[in-house]
Amino acid sequence: MDIETNKIAGAVLSTLLVALGLNMISGIVFAPKKPAIPGYELPSDEPAAAAGPAAAAADEPITVRLAKADVAKGASAVGACKACHTFEKGGANKVGPHLYDVYGRAKGAVEGFGYSAAMKAKSSEKWEAEQIDGFLKNPKAYMPGTSMAYAGLGKPDTRADIVAYLNSLADAPKPLPK
Ligand code: HEC
Repeated sequence: MDIETNKIAGAVLSTLLVALGLNMISGIVFAPKKPAIPGYELPSDEPAAAAGPAAAAADEPITVRLAKADVAKGASAVGACKACHTFEKGGANKVGPHLYDVYGRAKGAVEGFGYSAAMKAKSSEKWEAEQIDGFLKNPKAYMPGTSMAYAGLGKPDTRADIVAYLNSLADAPKPLPK
């Protein structure tokens, strides 16, 4: 190795050392703050915000909504149901079973109506406020496999009105939950 080569090698080496030194010093001066858990920091105490605005507002409990429910409003809100259901006493079955006296009735209990297997599987349960409310909100989600081809009713207060109306359709209406 001649002197020139040694000089070049020395220059390269000292440059590398200076770079390394600068890197170490800047590491000390500008110490990066590392999060305790690696990855992106997401707000963990705001699950509603993360799930979107639709999930943010939970429905009030059915008992609270029933306290301010209006039977007359319920009677007009069931207009959309009349394509498939009758509501008067002795009414016929149509696409869906008649709904007179449905409140407190066992699920899928109308004699001679061809219920889905999903409905028949729930015959030990009754149609009370919570069940009707849940079913009307989203029939397919509440009862996967139901044959009720109705998209669902998103308005919580209107569902309570309908529950109160359905409850009134009886010779002796049953007490609503408080
Ligand atoms: C497109 C037709 C259709 C519409 C609209 C419809 N339903 Fe139904 N409904 C059905 C069918 C079919 C069933 C039976 C479902 C099954 O067996 O799974 C049913 C079942 C029900 C039941 C259970 C009855 C029982 O005897 O167990 C209730 C309660 C009910 N519907 C309420 C309503 C209300 C209230 C509305 C309006 C907000 C409505 N439905 C709109 C077709 C419909």
